[in-house]
Amino acid sequence: MQHERMIRLAGFLIATSAMAACGNSTVAGPEPTEPTATVDDVLADDSLDGLDVDDENLRGIDRDKIIEALQVLRGGLIFHFEKFRGNGRTCATCHRGESFDLKPADVQRLHARRPNDPLFLADGSDDGLGNGATRIKEDATIRITFNLPPNITIVEDPSIRQVTMVRAVPSLLNITKLETIFMLDGRQTNLQSQALGAVNDHAQPGRQPTQSELDALALFQQKDPHFYTTRELYEYSRGGPPPTIPAGNTESERRGRAFFEPDTACGSCHFGPMLNESTAGRLGAVFNFGNGTRIRGIRVPTDNVAGLPMLTYRCTNPTTGVVTNTRTADPGRALATGICTDVNQFRTSTLWGINESAPYFHNNSAATLEEVMDQYDRFFEFVATQRGVDLRITPQDREDIIAFMRLL
Ligand code: HEC
Ligand code: HEC
Repeated sequence: MQHERMIRLAGFLIATSAMAACGNSTVAGPEPTEPTATVDDVLADDSLDGLDVDDENLRGIDRDKIIEALQVLRGGLIFHFEKFRGNGRTCATCHRGESFDLKPADVQRLHARRPNDPLFLADGSDDGLGNGATRIKEDATIRITFNLPPNITIVEDPSIRQVTMVRAVPSLLNITKLETIFMLDGRQTNLQSQALGAVNDHAQPGRQPTQSELDALALFQQKDPHFYTTRELYEYSRGGPPPTIPAGNTESERRGRAFFEPDTACGSCHFGPMLNESTAGRLGAVFNFGNGTRIRGIRVPTDNVAGLPMLTYRCTNPTTGVVTNTRTADPGRALATGICTDVNQFRTSTLWGINESAPYFHNNSAATLEEVMDQYDRFFEFVATQRGVDLRITPQDREDIIAFMRLL
């Protein structure tokens, strides 16, 4: 009896997960059809607890592994189909295709086919109220509103207590098990609270997710191999050895690799197994960071090539009373922490799988790796003139660095 139920269930789950895995956003195929039963109808937790380990047919099979595999599949169903009785969005409304992110091409294709898709509601629209899709079609960003911390005000209009930023939908590749701080400013530290926030921020839910749904979502994102771009990274996520960066095949790739040694132009911030940790040293002293720092700024919101509206943030250090004014399009982590030195700081991203996760930076302002390098040209120019340290790179260096990054 239990068995029949399990087999029926497994068949359903596998069919659905295979369908979801094929949902590559770059191929304009039919949308997956929605199952008629809700996820909870299909898989109530009790059905797993009732699994009979002494059953003849289950001998030699690890019960915990089966349960975990089913929870991973259940998490996949929730990710792709569960709407929490809300505005029609699922996680996959924004985290699309094989890179689990949102690219301008995805948005344009979707808008042409289904202009009333729930993606274009609320924080997906131009005004936050569901009107206009100009912004999202161009840069695939989502509006995120923050309450200002008590010690931060806006110089242009001190009555403002809430600000709205536009943020990229980050790729979930190589992140969910291998990252310790989530979101582009690192403001979340676990996947369950992240998912709870996502449901409430984006889905306008009519019911709250249960703890068991949040756990299943986390397990799916951490354990499903589709979230990893190489076998080494997948094995690392399961406790295997840390990945090492490729040696490079061509001269150019090998020269590019040298920029990721510790204390170099890129390796001072993109080091360690995930290429997302700083290394102390000569540059660490200049930039004031030690080993393993993750929160940094490279002037994306102040150079503001995206042309976003800028405001002057007045931040008062509550201990010293020292005031700093910063004109920026997005003060980043300071909105979450209220710490004045966090203004304009974001999480240093992993570079593994970087080929698949364009566009880049917290606001999608670099469409290609070439445009990423344009930002570093501006940043290194600033560092050279303001800090007296010359990290400027030649056109050949730029080619080499890109060639190396394409191997990751
Ligand atoms: C309306 C679009 C949208 C929906 C729907 C959505 N997300 Fe996100 N997600 C985002 C954006 C935008 C960010 C980054 C926000 C930021 O950093 O300020 C993000 C960040 C994340 C991150 C952190 C990634 C990282 O690099 O640290 C995870 C994990 C995630 N989302 C999972 C989910 C899950 C699970 C769901 C469903 C419960 C979901 N998202 C629904 C837009 C969305
Ligand atoms: C001072 C620290 C620092 C240095 C030096 C640095 N980075 Fe970064 N890198 C960051 C931070 C922080 C971000 C996220 C910035 C943002 O979104 O605003 C980032 C983002 C990136 C991204 C985009 C990742 C994504 O998924 O959006 C790429 C690619 C990248 N860096 C490559 C490089 C290369 C190549 C070099 C050397 C030329 C380099 N970085 C040097 C800190 C640094």
